[in-house]
Amino acid sequence: MPDWDDIFAKKGKYFTKPHPDMERLADFFNERGVQRILDLGCGTGRHLIFLLKKGFEVYGLDGSPNGLEIAETWLKEENLSSELTCQKIEEKFPYTDGFFDAVISIQVIHHNLMKDIMVTVKELERILKPEGLIFLTFPLLQNFYNMMDKMEKVETGTYIPLTGKEKGLPHHFFKVAEIKRVFSTFNLSEIYIDETNHRAILGQKRDR
Ligand SMILES: C[S@@+](CC[C@H](N)C(=O)[O-])C[C@H]1O[C@@H](n2cnc3c(N)ncnc32)[C@H](O)[C@@H]1O
Repeated sequence: MPDWDDIFAKKGKYFTKPHPDMERLADFFNERGVQRILDLGCGTGRHLIFLLKKGFEVYGLDGSPNGLEIAETWLKEENLSSELTCQKIEEKFPYTDGFFDAVISIQVIHHNLMKDIMVTVKELERILKPEGLIFLTFPLLQNFYNMMDKMEKVETGTYIPLTGKEKGLPHHFFKVAEIKRVFSTFNLSEIYIDETNHRAILGQKRDR
């Protein structure tokens, strides 16, 4: 994956402060007895650090070797540790069924074609405990209107930038109805636009 790997190689810790809702989310996780969390697409590790400091057991998975190397260094600086895995999110995750209490994934899952997104969602379901929690964010198409002529539409709702730092990387822009359909095995208690102008969802795996 040259794109984000290149960005991290050039810019280092690209994101440093946690997502603005992470504090509230950590409180919510504590109320729900969450212990083990996966940060899917952890990048350079801002949420690994934040959630480890809150006392959770946190794992990270990302496809960028450079991102994970930066995350490892940052973890060492903070005297923290996490099991980090370098692999694509559209491949089977290296965790057993029901391993995690919660999964967070901030601006990651949309970076694929729909058929691959469905693989990721199935894997999310598999590695979560019954009633496991998800907090996910996705970009909004309206924030890309100024570059519509520089993106190629490759399927319904999915565009590939032809230029810029994310050139060649698919972006799927979920509509709310589609989110409800794709995450139909989760009870979605919140679907909203966050302070960073991304769509955020909070959900719980249905106990089947
Ligand atoms: C916008 S960054 C967000 C990083 C991190 N979640 C954060 O909030 O700081 C997107 C991340 O998703 C990862 N990523 C994108 N597509 C991926 C894929 N198909 N498999 C694995 N990782 C992927 C990138 O390497 C990058 O770390």
